[in-house]
Amino acid sequence: MRDDICNIVENIQIQGEYYLLKIHSEYISARAIPGNFIMISVSSTMEPLLKRPFGIFETDPPYIWIYYQVVGKGSRLVSEFKPGDKISVLGPLGNSFPPVTNQSILMIAGGRGIAPIHFAIKKYQKENKISLIYGARSKHNLNLLDLLKPLTLQVLLLYSDDGSIGKRGNVTTDLRKTIQKSGISITFSCGPDNMFKSIYQVTRELKTRDYASLEALMGCGFGICYSCVIQTRKSGYQKVCTDGPIFDMDEIAW
Ligand SMILES: Cc1cc2nc3c(=O)[nH]c(=O)nc-3n(C[C@H](O)[C@H](O)[C@H](O)COP(=O)(O)OP(=O)(O)OC[C@H]3O[C@@H](n4cnc5c(N)ncnc54)[C@H](O)[C@@H]3O)c2cc1C
Ligand code: FES
Repeated sequence: MRDDICNIVENIQIQGEYYLLKIHSEYISARAIPGNFIMISVSSTMEPLLKRPFGIFETDPPYIWIYYQVVGKGSRLVSEFKPGDKISVLGPLGNSFPPVTNQSILMIAGGRGIAPIHFAIKKYQKENKISLIYGARSKHNLNLLDLLKPLTLQVLLLYSDDGSIGKRGNVTTDLRKTIQKSGISITFSCGPDNMFKSIYQVTRELKTRDYASLEALMGCGFGICYSCVIQTRKSGYQKVCTDGPIFDMDEIAW
């Protein structure tokens, strides 16, 4: 990793508080692998001081893309970036999804959790069969469907809590059935914490290997501040920034 001064190429509002940010970074785009994240400096002043973490949605050297949701001050400042702005970006950071070939992988994305999942599908679809379950609260929160069209997916299942898009329900509504019917051996998931707990309640009874891409509050992104620790079953506290963000779901003390 290194701290790179990068140019903003595009910052497109997809819908409401959701944006796709295209950044020029030869260094990060050449090195990032699925699961990695970056820390973006959101302001040239001291306020807010801390960089903010974002998963990588896609790379196509010399570019990287970030899909983000405005939730507070930092992400609001990111939404104000304009083409040509120069920003400081630290990365690539964190571990990655495990190497897998000749498997049936089920990707599970909740809302903005589609970001690392999209990157993973692009890389893993060459040597694996990929299915995707994508859910969100409503149509408003379930975006980028056009970008999913060119992907090679065996199964694509969409869910919304209010039924405004796809089937009414959530990513676990047909999870057991999908895993069994599609011969899934591995799951990769990203979304809110409560989503992981519901997924694990289903998958822990099945013979799948399950990997979650976690979010946590992060101060530094590279292991020195301990703001991002989680409790694991066998290895005590682990840092989401350097031991993760990808964890084997069996390892986490849910
Ligand atoms: C490894 C990693 C990858 C991420 N990838 C993405 C991504 O691809 N797209 C995206 O939109 N966001 C992503 N996030 C979350 C993103 O970092 C936060 O939304 C952002 O830092 C919020 O900053 P803020 O100043 O706008 O909000 P703040 O004012 O700091 O917080 C606003 C609200 O969001 C909550 N919040 C802030 N940070 C987090 C967090 N890390 N996890 C859960 N809740 C949080 C706060 O508790 C508060 O309720 C990722 C986080 C991590 C750790
Ligand atoms: S964010 Fe500082 S140790 Fe993880």
